[in-house]
Amino acid sequence: MNAKNTDFGTFAQDVMLGLNSNPKTLPSKYFYDAKGDKLFQQIMALPEYYLTQKEYEILEGQHKQILASILGQGQPFNLVELGAGDGMKTKILLRYLVETDVDFTYFPIDFSGSVLEELEQSLGQEMPGLQVKPIQSTYRDSLKNQEWENGLPNLILFLGANLGNFGVDEAKNIINHLRVGTKKGDLVLLGFDLKKDPQTILDAYHDRQGITREFNMNLLERINRELDADFDRESFMHWPTYDPVSGECRSYLVSRKPQQVTIGALNQSFEFEAYESIFTEISKKYSLTEIGSLASSGGFQVEENFLDSEGFFADVLWQKT
Ligand code: AVJ
Repeated sequence: MNAKNTDFGTFAQDVMLGLNSNPKTLPSKYFYDAKGDKLFQQIMALPEYYLTQKEYEILEGQHKQILASILGQGQPFNLVELGAGDGMKTKILLRYLVETDVDFTYFPIDFSGSVLEELEQSLGQEMPGLQVKPIQSTYRDSLKNQEWENGLPNLILFLGANLGNFGVDEAKNIINHLRVGTKKGDLVLLGFDLKKDPQTILDAYHDRQGITREFNMNLLERINRELDADFDRESFMHWPTYDPVSGECRSYLVSRKPQQVTIGALNQSFEFEAYESIFTEISKKYSLTEIGSLASSGGFQVEENFLDSEGFFADVLWQKT
């Protein structure tokens, strides 16, 4: 496995860049260390975090229709998953494909090595015949390298609203990587959280048990653990916002007081004014119109939009033209 992206150097460098920016920012991909992976699993089980439940409902109820296009090509294929995580939802598709007895290889890709190891282990137990080839990488690097490419059709999964972690321009850039990383006829299944009652969205990122707060705080704790820093978590607050126009749900860590934080590994101290914030995450919500124009500007044709019964979430199937 390629551990390049979790190198101390990259993390330290990204933290340095982010905290020297104005306004201060930290990349959300660093949420996901062993502790962050556990916290995210707890988030997915929260009553307020409707995203996982809704996508589960879609895959549970419509997996046959969703997989009909790739199965209809009548060939062995590759099932590639960007941001595989714990594979809870993907297992619905995998079980069905294993039952159907088609020849395919599953390539789970994740930035977190700990998550990939657990996934490989649990798949080995639950579906021993399944061919699994994990790749530890970022979305962009994996799409550049296309380790799975062998001329067979590909179905690329990008589930769980993971694309929402990018702003509009960055999302377009990822879609461009998807276009370059696929060939004509390849299919892509993308998960999008849809625009809805702003309160419902805000609650999903501000749960009553405070798990999302812990998740956000883990970023500071990770910097303390790995980069010898002295962030005092009690002096920061978790502050999610939602803008119904842009559809951007943004999370911040706000300094409750003026303070100085020292990061040993960077040999640098950072000043915070009272109520100065660190922007830590964007979770963009889409309309179906926006999703359609993402597809066409990226060179994909919309095959079908699969929605849950309340229209909260969409898994959209695109084909490379
Ligand atoms: C994993 C990116 C889909 O943005 O909803 C959950 C991460 N952050 N609660 C999301 C997350 C706070 C999640 N994604």
